Amino acid sequence: MKIFAAVSGACALVALAAVATTANAAGGDAAHGKTVFARCAACHDLNSGRTVLGPTLKGIVGRQSGSVAGFSYSPAMKAKGIAWTPANLDQFIASPTKYIPGTRMPFAGLPDAKDRADLVAYLQQAAH
Ligand code: HEC
Repeated sequence: MKIFAAVSGACALVALAAVATTANAAGGDAAHGKTVFARCAACHDLNSGRTVLGPTLKGIVGRQSGSVAGFSYSPAMKAKGIAWTPANLDQFIASPTKYIPGTRMPFAGLPDAKDRADLVAYLQQAAH
């Protein structure tokens, strides 16, 4: 009995560790989010601070919208005046032009809610 408890305890620990490395509080799978980010990577740097076609996403969760110095934002993005959160990033990525009419981000949107949740989990983890 004692041995059984020890073994099942160890299994629970392994399971917890697996969850901790792939999921965040919002439940997104950051490992899968990394593959989804391939669709953003042509235009967005993640954490070196470099401007590509779009502004860097360094520290994007919690960052003020339209705030990268020297980046030529659309008037719509400049006027939005929000702090990016997992919730509004999800809305923006679902349909950029619906969430910010007039945005110059040439991206149609990610229709799959799980892809978006996983991508946001990855941004939270990797875009420092
Ligand atoms: C073809 C290039 C391109 C692709 C692909 C693209 N973006 Fe963008 N992104 C831009 C541009 C350009 C802007 C600036 C938009 C504006 O000023 O209206 C932008 C703006 C943003 C912003 C606002 C940044 C800020 O400083 O407020 C976020 C967040 C963002 N993109 C996330 C993403 C994510 C996540 C993806 C992938 C799902 C993605 N983008 C795909 C070009 C792109």
